[in-house]
Amino acid sequence: MILLQKVSELRQWRQTAGRVILVPTMGALHEGHGALIQEARRLAGNRAQVAVTIFVNPLQFGPGEDFDRYPRTLEADLAIGESCGADMVFAPQVSEVYALNRSIQVLENQLSRVLCGASRPGHFDGVCTVVAKLFNLTQPDEAVFGKKDYQQLAIIRRLVRDLNFPIVIHGVETVREPDGLAMSSRNRYLNPKERSQAPALRQALLLAHESWHHGQHNSQILLRIAREFLKTHALQGREDYLCLVDREELEPQTQAGPNSLMAVAWWFGKTRLIDNLEFT
Ligand code: PAJ
Repeated sequence: MILLQKVSELRQWRQTAGRVILVPTMGALHEGHGALIQEARRLAGNRAQVAVTIFVNPLQFGPGEDFDRYPRTLEADLAIGESCGADMVFAPQVSEVYALNRSIQVLENQLSRVLCGASRPGHFDGVCTVVAKLFNLTQPDEAVFGKKDYQQLAIIRRLVRDLNFPIVIHGVETVREPDGLAMSSRNRYLNPKERSQAPALRQALLLAHESWHHGQHNSQILLRIAREFLKTHALQGREDYLCLVDREELEPQTQAGPNSLMAVAWWFGKTRLIDNLEFT
């Protein structure tokens, strides 16, 4: 596996790389990222190269968010990249990616109005801008994203469709701790009490899903079931959102169906955790 940090090196690498499968990340890699890289390896076989990007993108952090304290662990990340089958890691400095007087960006103004976008204005524009740039830099044939960030995955699919990137997008299931908590680089900020309550996010979604299976389709009732559970089992934290939406347009639904997604964001102190469940 090789490490590249300059755009010029990446350009050179790309010329002889053949087919490329891309896994974009912000580093602080854990088993969730590892599963994405392994999936890319599986898709690539020995017919394509697996490229992983590690870049903490300042554009997608709002004022007062955790850009400065976002964990940066390049050495450990390289070891994970290598063991999961990456061929190349691109880990540029901010100045390598963004010109000081940059004046063009990618805006998304439909899917990013809801869920995480509602409480993080500009976040998904920052994501779309950097992902478009990473697509242009690495020119992948396919790219792999996690369903943990379901809204992000839906927006990337829209980005690819609306800007005609010739890239196949794959979504990978969320990797979890043994107690069900979705793996996240932000879990390390939880104190022991918050950590013990955090699996309630997953449990609340499963509870609502079970009621749906038993015939309850009214989304208000399903949301109430999940909310009541969270209020008693994740009482250390507070709600950012709990929504039932359709999986393509991310629009709120009054009735839950087989295209529904229940998504939750919950604040524990200054740490915001998200999770979601596809109704199937
Ligand atoms: P980051 O948060 O590092 O996540 C990189 C990828 O890993 C995303 O596709 C995310 O959905 C996936 N991921 C994170 N936790 C996961 C888990 N527990 N199971 C499965 N997949 C998981 O998402 C970003 O970075 C950035 O927004 C990025 C797309 C790189 C643009 O800057």
